[in-house]
Amino acid sequence: MTRGSTASPRTVALVVPHVAPSPSPRARALRLGVLASGHGSNFAALVRASRHGALHAEVVGLVVNTPRCKALTRAERLDVAATVMDHRRYNSREALDRALVDHFRTLRVDVLVMAGWMRIVSPVLCQAYDKRLVNIHPSLLPAFRGLNAMERALAAGVRITGCTAHLVVPEVDAGPILIQAAVPVYPNDTMATLAPRIHAQEHRILPVAVAMAGRNLLNERP
Ligand code: GAR
Repeated sequence: MTRGSTASPRTVALVVPHVAPSPSPRARALRLGVLASGHGSNFAALVRASRHGALHAEVVGLVVNTPRCKALTRAERLDVAATVMDHRRYNSREALDRALVDHFRTLRVDVLVMAGWMRIVSPVLCQAYDKRLVNIHPSLLPAFRGLNAMERALAAGVRITGCTAHLVVPEVDAGPILIQAAVPVYPNDTMATLAPRIHAQEHRILPVAVAMAGRNLLNERP
């Protein structure tokens, strides 16, 4: 068990990487694409980690599916190119995913990150970014897959919950786990107190998961 540097005395995180995330000395910076639907705090955490040297990467583009979401405002402040692809303008999940693949291929993205992307993705996206599509989910998967994971963990009365970063496969929240962080649930917790505790750990583990997903890819290339 490791106590994170940002952990308060009441917040204990258990971080379980399966492989060391360090890139080879030859590796170039990863080009990251990010998908978000709402607040964009995980998107901002990836930009910060890239710019402060914690992650050998550059966030080259954000796509949001909800016009006027906070992630867009953050992208503007952080000077990251952002594009709106409103899912309601596409006939099917596959059509939206094809547009996403075209967009991120143009940006030569190595790893694509679903950072609060509240859409089910189709095999079109999973296959185009096979082993290079990372999702962050606010529970210790395989517990509480799907929507409202934190609310359901609270309602279930679990004493430990957390977050998971995993590779994406067509089955929802079911791909190989890269890294998880556990947080305690206290007796008087509400969403207002539990959510920030989980988000703080998401912001720590997501850059590590991205480095893990990108490592083999970069080491394979000249
Ligand atoms: C995060 O808690 C993330 O785990 C969750 O949405 C939130 C986005 O926060 N994702 C899911 O529930 C996906 N099933 P953010 O917009 O501040 O990064």
